[in-house]
Amino acid sequence: MSDTIAIAIDGPAGAGKSTIAKQIAAKLNYIYVDTGAMYRAMALFLLRQKVRPEETEKISTLCEEADITIRYENGEQVVLLNGENVNGLIRTEEVGNMASGSSVNPKVREKLVKLQQALAREENVVMDGRDIGTCVLPDAKVKVYLTAGVSVRARRRFDELTARGEPCSLSEIEADIRERDHKDMTREISPLRQAEDAVLIDTSDMTIDQAVDAVIDLC
Ligand code: DC
Repeated sequence: MSDTIAIAIDGPAGAGKSTIAKQIAAKLNYIYVDTGAMYRAMALFLLRQKVRPEETEKISTLCEEADITIRYENGEQVVLLNGENVNGLIRTEEVGNMASGSSVNPKVREKLVKLQQALAREENVVMDGRDIGTCVLPDAKVKVYLTAGVSVRARRRFDELTARGEPCSLSEIEADIRERDHKDMTREISPLRQAEDAVLIDTSDMTIDQAVDAVIDLC
């Protein structure tokens, strides 16, 4: 048993997990762990190796060659892929879609879950992802399932990309989100679902501050 405290935040893409988890971590002085970024770093590695998501065996073998670690710089999580800071390369739709595909692989999950559990043994964490409350940290003190309607999530993503000057289409983003929800929720291993002891928070009609306060109240 570890004597650190963990807060688990799970939910579908675009529910506001990372924004909200980051603020909660800052308020509580905990470390914020973005597990999606680790799956994205692995996806980037696989894309660079020209692997397709359906090439299961190749992924099982190749993922051994990806050394993924994280460190913190000025409170920000930096993901290192074989020593390279890949923070600036993993927030694309291409990498997100590959991550959704390659994260079904048991070897990929085994490797990254170990890393996530090791972090939570060392530090008090606010960890967000898809399977934190159900698989990675089943003993987390507080579990939240954060969600929002598909069109709200698509609009948020669209606004984020547009603000970064990336051309995109709202209807394509919404279709992508639907596909990722389906993949994440129906995969065989650790599918996205609300843990029995998780509290559901729907952020569709909430501001970020309201959602942060709702989670802090639970803590
Ligand atoms: O949260 P995100 O969009 O950065 O995650 C990218 C993909 O990684 C997501 O579609 C599914 C996968 N993922 C996962 O399988 N388990 C996690 N704990 C976090 C992310």
